[in-house]
Amino acid sequence: MTTLIQQTSVNGVTTLTINRPDKLNALSPELFVELKAILLRLQEPGFPVRGVILTGSGEKAFIAGADIAAMQQMSPEEGERFAAQGQEITALLEALPIPVIACVNGYALGGGCELAMACDFIYCTERAQFGQPEVSLGLTPCFGGCVRLSRFVGAGRARELIYTGRRIDAGEALRIGLVNRVFSDADAMLAAARDILLQCKSQSPVAISLCKHTINASYGRTTDEALEVEKNAFRRTFESADKQEGVQAFVEKRPAVFPGR
Ligand code: COA
Repeated sequence: MTTLIQQTSVNGVTTLTINRPDKLNALSPELFVELKAILLRLQEPGFPVRGVILTGSGEKAFIAGADIAAMQQMSPEEGERFAAQGQEITALLEALPIPVIACVNGYALGGGCELAMACDFIYCTERAQFGQPEVSLGLTPCFGGCVRLSRFVGAGRARELIYTGRRIDAGEALRIGLVNRVFSDADAMLAAARDILLQCKSQSPVAISLCKHTINASYGRTTDEALEVEKNAFRRTFESADKQEGVQAFVEKRPAVFPGR
């Protein structure tokens, strides 16, 4: 039983709640160890989960960043190991073959914004605040902020936000494309996220995992290389029982029931 992360599962949707509200859910090395173990379990073939929600406990924060107190005494080597730990978590989130939605209620700063951006997309409440404030601490983003923020909002906006450390509210986050939707409160946000994941659940799991892989693999590749990945993913659907069922169901004018393989 973990303590820093709560895990609940309903109808194949797992909600992971970072649970360190007294420190605004700041990311410590110990928290990363727990989160890694959970993400590895979710990746096991046959694990009965079709979607993940990542959120934070309490009213104030999703995650207020990497644990600043823990970083105070770190040597450069320990700092590098901490960055590697966080990057391993973001890589695991991206590699999950199922949709992952970050649900942000309150602060998503530094590592919080970075973990949210490693999810497939972000929902937030009206009280959410986003930012990469590392430069105000003499630090740099290290869990993917310099890399992923520009994918969401474009290089110019990412540079401006990172160089100034400025915090933005939910309205600006929506306008610049960092978040997909803004909700009046956390309950409405979580209900909508569950609803979207249930909609995904009725689609082909094989096709969704291949789409996720293709989208993520397209970064850093030339257009031709990325299109090769896409073509290969399409080919792989022809090897799946899901494609057999999906196409047959269309022809027979009935809803598809995907076997997920
Ligand atoms: N690391 C470690 N502890 C943190 C933290 C972080 N990133 N963010 C908040 N906390 C702790 C505070 O130290 C405080 O602990 P304490 O009660 O033991 O003193 C507790 O969480 C509450 O935070 P507090 O600052 O009192 O809340 P606030 O409402 O006044 O301010 C923030 C909220 C988010 C504006 C402020 O906490 C903040 O700026 N946090 C750091 C954000 C940041 O720079 N993140 C990137 C790190 S690289």
